[in-house]
Amino acid sequence: MTNQDTVPPPIDGRDPSNLRGDPIPGDRYYSPEFAQKEWDHLWTKIWHIAGRLADIPEAGDFLVHNFLKESVIAVRQEDGSVRAFYNSCGHRGMRLVKESSSLDAFACPYHGWRWGKDGILQYAQDAEDFPGGNPCGKLSLKELRCDIWGGFVWYTMDHEAPELLDFLEPMPALYRNYPMDTAVRVAWYRIEINANWKFVTDNFSESYHTRTAHPQVPLWIDQDVESARHEMWSKGHGRTAQPMRPSLTDRPASGTNEMFAEILRQWDVDPDSYDSYEDFALQGWKDLKAAKRRLWKERGYVHYENMNDEEITDSLHTVFFPNVTFSFLPDHIVLFRSEPHPEDPEKCYFDLWCMAFPVEGQEIVESVMAGPKPLREVEECEHRKFDDGRGIPELAGQIVYQDMELAEGMQAGMHSQGYEDAYLTGQETRVRYFHEVLNDWLAGDRP
Ligand code: FES
Ligand SMILES: [Fe+2]
Repeated sequence: MTNQDTVPPPIDGRDPSNLRGDPIPGDRYYSPEFAQKEWDHLWTKIWHIAGRLADIPEAGDFLVHNFLKESVIAVRQEDGSVRAFYNSCGHRGMRLVKESSSLDAFACPYHGWRWGKDGILQYAQDAEDFPGGNPCGKLSLKELRCDIWGGFVWYTMDHEAPELLDFLEPMPALYRNYPMDTAVRVAWYRIEINANWKFVTDNFSESYHTRTAHPQVPLWIDQDVESARHEMWSKGHGRTAQPMRPSLTDRPASGTNEMFAEILRQWDVDPDSYDSYEDFALQGWKDLKAAKRRLWKERGYVHYENMNDEEITDSLHTVFFPNVTFSFLPDHIVLFRSEPHPEDPEKCYFDLWCMAFPVEGQEIVESVMAGPKPLREVEECEHRKFDDGRGIPELAGQIVYQDMELAEGMQAGMHSQGYEDAYLTGQETRVRYFHEVLNDWLAGDRP
């Protein structure tokens, strides 16, 4: 056990000498044997997110999380706690429920057995016809360990796994200042893409692709390599911390950056008061911090209350090993997750949950990844196939769409005899680190 209140100093995520140098061969992106190893040694051992606590406020509300061929139900109990069970009837194994909903009890569609929200069998037809006696009140659905962090319900299939907070360490301490459970999910998608799930973690472990793939971003988030911090921790988690200010090496030809000027104006900073573009970007960013510090309360930015000077103006793009990325932004948290496809290691599901911190008086918010949205909880997840973008035209031009456009080509490249290993920059060190930590898990060494 480690101390969960403190954040140990990060490992420098720009220095490959911190790594062993394991190669990243292509077959791990398509081999069914490799995918099986991931099931045996990774997915059945880690903590998974079943969903958001806010989605199951009342007793009997439940989440269904399907993962590969497994399915788990997380149910709110009468006492407010949440318990997780396998979604499989204790009679002959029938799947009990298809999707998240609310029920007083789980009635099996096959022979009618009824399981309480506490997992205990309440009713079985011909209950006296069992050689071992009436099973009601005795049998229970098979239970999994379940815990809460960040407003999310997590579970693990591994009875021996370390506690959730230990698995996440040091993320809960690192992000203690964000009132995560107050965020409102304003956009919610699950998109099938034609790439292995690891493409997504790789992609979110570096910002080196940003200038090429997301030319709109350097005007908004500083992409100069010396401006960023690249950090890794021993459990495999890592982040890129970048100031949300214009990059100095990506100046618009016009000499003006209306996007950043508008942000400054919103906080009463005059963008025309600077003599040079450097001043506008660097001093403007400092003035923005000061203005936010001064005005947050009267402007209703209550989520800033405990946030530090970095958190109120910067982008902390954070991968939680192995498959969840949280982008911590001043007014938003974006969750990205990739999960393997049950039949094909060359496909995955990509989850996008855009969450905004509510600000008094705001009715429409920029969701960051899915355009402007009304500030209210989205009830239903949109299930789509990317299909070269045709399946999700409303996201065209968004950052995530640009990433998804790259997925299929990367997947194809993994099959080429021309590809043997990645040849990485220093700032991409976290990509290889991810694979090294994955290799450790697959070898049975949980960090
Ligand atoms: S499988 Fe559920 S009642 Fe028979
Ligand atoms: Fe990207």
